[in-house]
Amino acid sequence: MVYPESKSLAEFYPMVGGHGAHSYAKNSSQQRVVVDATKEMVKEAMADKLDFEVPGFENSTAFQIADLGCSTGPSTFIAMQNIIEAVEQKHQNPSALEFQVFFNDRFDNDFNTLFKSLPPSRKYFATAVPGSFHSRLFPNSTLHFVYSSYALHWLSKVPEEIQDSEPPAWKKDSIQCTGFVKEVAEVYAAQFKNDMECFLNARAEELVEGGLMVIILSALPDGIPMSRTTKGKTYGLSGSCLIDMAKTNLAVFEGLIKEHFGSKAVDQ
Ligand SMILES: C[S@@+](CC[C@H](N)C(=O)[O-])C[C@H]1O[C@@H](n2cnc3c(N)ncnc32)[C@H](O)[C@@H]1O
Repeated sequence: MVYPESKSLAEFYPMVGGHGAHSYAKNSSQQRVVVDATKEMVKEAMADKLDFEVPGFENSTAFQIADLGCSTGPSTFIAMQNIIEAVEQKHQNPSALEFQVFFNDRFDNDFNTLFKSLPPSRKYFATAVPGSFHSRLFPNSTLHFVYSSYALHWLSKVPEEIQDSEPPAWKKDSIQCTGFVKEVAEVYAAQFKNDMECFLNARAEELVEGGLMVIILSALPDGIPMSRTTKGKTYGLSGSCLIDMAKTNLAVFEGLIKEHFGSKAVDQ
C-alpha cells in the first residue's frame, strides 16, 4: 500500500539543524519549559488511563512510543524519558518491558543531529520515521502511546484562499492569522480542522486498542481572538513590519521580500 505525502511538502521549512547559535537545539527553551510544565499531567493521565489488561497490550513486551514532530532535540529526549518512567511506575513487572521510540518529523528535519545527541543512558530502541503526521506513518494497531508537543499547530499548507494570485480584498495587509481579519481567521481555522481530521484518522488506525495519545499545543479559550493576546499583538506587529518592508520597494528587498499577494508591489 502506498501512503503519498501531500503536495505541500516543498513549502516546508524545517527547524535549524545542528548545534550552532541559531539552531533549534540551542533555541528551544520554551518548548523545554512546556515539557516540564506538562510532566505531571502526562504522568497522571497515564496512571489513570493506561490499562495493560486490554487486548492491545496483552502479550506485548515491547511498548511502542511515537513522538510526532520531534525536531532535533533536546526536549523530545526529556519527554520520552518522562513517559517511560510513567509506564514503568504503572506496570506490574516493568523489567519485562522493552521500549521502542519512533522519532517522527518531516523529511527535511536534521535527524543526524537528533540521533547523534541521543542520551547514552536511554532505555529504549530509537527509530527515525520521516514523513508528515497528517498521513499514515505506522502499520495498523502498532503504537501504545502517541505523543506530540508543540507541533500540531503547523498546518500542512497555507490555505488555498491565501495563496490565490487574485486574492480577495480582505486579505490585503493581513499575512498572519491573528484574528484581526475575520475571513483570514476563518480560512486558517478551516485548514486546521481539515489537518486535525487527517491526523486523528491516521492515529486511530495506528494506536492499539487501549493506547493513549497526548497532544500538547497552545490554544485559546473559546471567544478570545488571538489579536487580544500578547502573542497575537506581537505577530500583528511583526506582520505589519513585513508588509511595510515589502512596500518600500527598495532594491535590497527585491526578490527577498514580496507582498504575499503577488510580486506586482515589488515590481512597480
Ligand atoms: C516547534 S517544533 C517542536 C519540536 C518538539 N516536539 C519539541 O517540543 O521540542 C515543531 C516540529 O514539528 C515538525 N512538524 C511540523 N509539521 C509536521 C508534519 N506535518 N509532520 C511531522 N512533523 C512536523 C517541525 O518540523 C518541527 O520540527
